[in-house]
Amino acid sequence: MSAARASAAAGAIASAARGGLPRHVAIIMDGNGRWAKKRLLPRVAGHRAGVDAVRKVVRAAGEIGVEALTLYAFSSENWRRPQSEIADLMGLLRRYLLAELEELAQGGVQLRILGDLGRFDPELREMIEGAVARTASNEGMILAVALNYGAQDELVEAARALATDAAAGRIEPAAIDASAMEARLSTAGLPPLDLMIRTSGEKRLSNFLLWQAAYAELIFVDTLWPDFDRTALEAALADYARRERRYGGL
Ligand code: IPE
Ligand code: IPE
Ligand code: MG
Repeated sequence: MSAARASAAAGAIASAARGGLPRHVAIIMDGNGRWAKKRLLPRVAGHRAGVDAVRKVVRAAGEIGVEALTLYAFSSENWRRPQSEIADLMGLLRRYLLAELEELAQGGVQLRILGDLGRFDPELREMIEGAVARTASNEGMILAVALNYGAQDELVEAARALATDAAAGRIEPAAIDASAMEARLSTAGLPPLDLMIRTSGEKRLSNFLLWQAAYAELIFVDTLWPDFDRTALEAALADYARRERRYGGL
């Protein structure tokens, strides 16, 4: 067997050995407010419990061997919430980074941000950018956190970048294809999205990864995000492993 054929065969075995494990999982972490309401607690208590779930699920995904985990933490529409709730969420993000960065960095996690940090408080923004830089050369799981993210904005940005390149003569309009788009999305370089999970029973994408979800498997669970844990993640992965992905073929 030639070296090239041997390595292709090894690749096939390696992918079979993944046992139907998705390379890239995205989660719409929804239901913190309802979790708190059920307990007659303020909404911030639900967000706090949501951060604990993030900790558990990030750890579990890394141990299971998911290559990339993308978490929807704050959408471009979440600015519509009351100022006090936005401040609570920003405070929790800050505390999460302070408490977890060391463990993430030591664990080889590579932190990435999807979305526009321009609207964030400069100090928090600097902290987030510092965390991204600190973990940039890590080679373990990619943890992509969507902050002030909206898929329509992302697609508009990509279209604008392509138009700019075309106007400057850097790309022929006829040469614009799906990979030219993908290279200009915030997920460039991440593995293709295999699985999208949404908690809390809502069945919509809420402007999350609209392009990337084209052929992702979708799983909607009733569990509220603060109750989502390793067992719930494993159940979703088992559901995914049973599905047959056809991509329009037979
Ligand atoms: C998800 O929980 C967290 C964010 C959107 C930041 P919600 O805050 O949306 O909780 P519900 O949907 O009101 O229960
Ligand atoms: C989606 O949840 C955004 C995040 C989980 C960060 P929302 O609670 O904001 O979504 P809608 O408003 O119910 O669609
Ligand atoms: Mg919600």
